[in-house]
Amino acid sequence: MTQVRATNIVWHEGHVGRDQREALLNQKGALIWLTGLPSSGKSTVAFTVEHALVERGRLAYVLDGDNIRHGLNKNLGFSAEDRAENIRRIGEVGKLFADAGFITMSSFISPYREDRDEVRALMDEGDFFEVFIDTPLAICEKRDPKGLYKKARSGEISNFTGISDPYEIPENPELIIKTAECTPQEAALQIIELLEVRDKISAVPE
Ligand code: ADX
Repeated sequence: MTQVRATNIVWHEGHVGRDQREALLNQKGALIWLTGLPSSGKSTVAFTVEHALVERGRLAYVLDGDNIRHGLNKNLGFSAEDRAENIRRIGEVGKLFADAGFITMSSFISPYREDRDEVRALMDEGDFFEVFIDTPLAICEKRDPKGLYKKARSGEISNFTGISDPYEIPENPELIIKTAECTPQEAALQIIELLEVRDKISAVPE
């Protein structure tokens, strides 16, 4: 549990409601939570969705694990505690983005079920979509674009997810995407269709 240290703080309501922002943007805020092994294709899918949505005139944004660890979360490593804090912070940021009206994609391994479930619980009803990027370990390891699986196998990196650290498969994700069986564009379309079905964006005639 996160220790609460802030005292004497009072919530301040603004004058503009979420519905006003959403009306302005002609969309509804959401957090699409992509989870999966390293090199499973989370970021590729997330950035493909972002691009496709912006091309359709929608406001979308990606919170990416590697990128966020360069800034906001650069003081966190890969212990279970640090990963939990990494995910907690991104959950909070994702909640703010959804409240701002953005269609937000988060691309984090987020290996622990408990951490992901805490983000789900934090979000308003209907705002959170867990998407399991279900790519077999053997394929992720073969892709290995950053050479990290190789380093993990040789022992140069410890606590590497999939090799020397656990990954807990989602039990009830809103969507499962098998990247070994589709292109990034096809994967992105599955997410966009989910957003349409759940009334986050209106369907655009092709
Ligand atoms: S998470 O587990 O806390 O969700 P996150 O998605 O932010 O991880 O960061 C994962 C990225 O950090 C990987 O894409 C990889 O480039 C890098 N990385 C470095 N060390 C590790 C490690 N031990 N386990 C997993 N990823 C690592």
